[in-house]
Amino acid sequence: MAAPPGQSSAQTVPEHVAVIMDGNGRWARSRGMPRAAGHRAGVKSAKAIVQACGERGIRVLTLFAFSSENWSRPRSEVSALMKLMLEALGREVNELAQKGVQLRFVGARHRLSEDIQNRMANAEQCTSGNDKLILVIALGYGGRWDLVQAAQELAREVRDGGLEPEAIDEESISRHLSLAPLPDPDLLIRTGGESRISNFLLWNLAYSELYFTDCLWPDFDSSGLDEALAFFASRDRRFGRVVEKVGSA
Ligand code: FPP
Repeated sequence: MAAPPGQSSAQTVPEHVAVIMDGNGRWARSRGMPRAAGHRAGVKSAKAIVQACGERGIRVLTLFAFSSENWSRPRSEVSALMKLMLEALGREVNELAQKGVQLRFVGARHRLSEDIQNRMANAEQCTSGNDKLILVIALGYGGRWDLVQAAQELAREVRDGGLEPEAIDEESISRHLSLAPLPDPDLLIRTGGESRISNFLLWNLAYSELYFTDCLWPDFDSSGLDEALAFFASRDRRFGRVVEKVGSA
């Protein structure tokens, strides 16, 4: 979230945390189990982290559950992941609703099965009045896809006469991206040992603090989250500006 002009943020708890949940496959393989078992363990970790974020006063949590590129995984793994999503949605939505969690989904929905799309719509509808924690699940999502769909939407507005090309600015692009109107992530956590963004929220991560850990996602728990939050609290967020120290020349 942007700090007021001319100030750095003294925020210690991030308002919005985004997570790339990596390492399920390696976690399973290292135990001699199939990759799908790693994804099942990953769902348990996701549930624990949702709970922990709620307890720590984080307002928005965005989880990268399935990327545009994940469609290229072996068919059997894609089916296992889709089955898991469908089951998790069926099983968890009531409890999330009772705990005051609002669910939202971002990504290219039309590629998902009708069953999943229906459960997603139902989950969004029955949690829309909640505000304890907003849980955004990125499913079939890619940062480049998001920019393309925003550009198409803006182009349609220009074509239909509702928008001058010169009026397109950062604010109007942000407004057409999937996360709108939520604030940008303050903190990105990536588990699994890689230090890259992998086509996640390309625009929205412009000023996020980036935290990478070797911990594999199924092993990531509330103490791992607390380490990431301690890292965040230690950062001096300048948003590209110089912070004038009192008494400096
Ligand atoms: C990465 O592990 C994880 C994914 C492809 C996403 C799947 C995530 C879950 C099942 C967690 C549950 C999420 C929700 C919200 C239902 P990987 O397969 O890339 O691991 P590897 O790098 O070790 O191969």
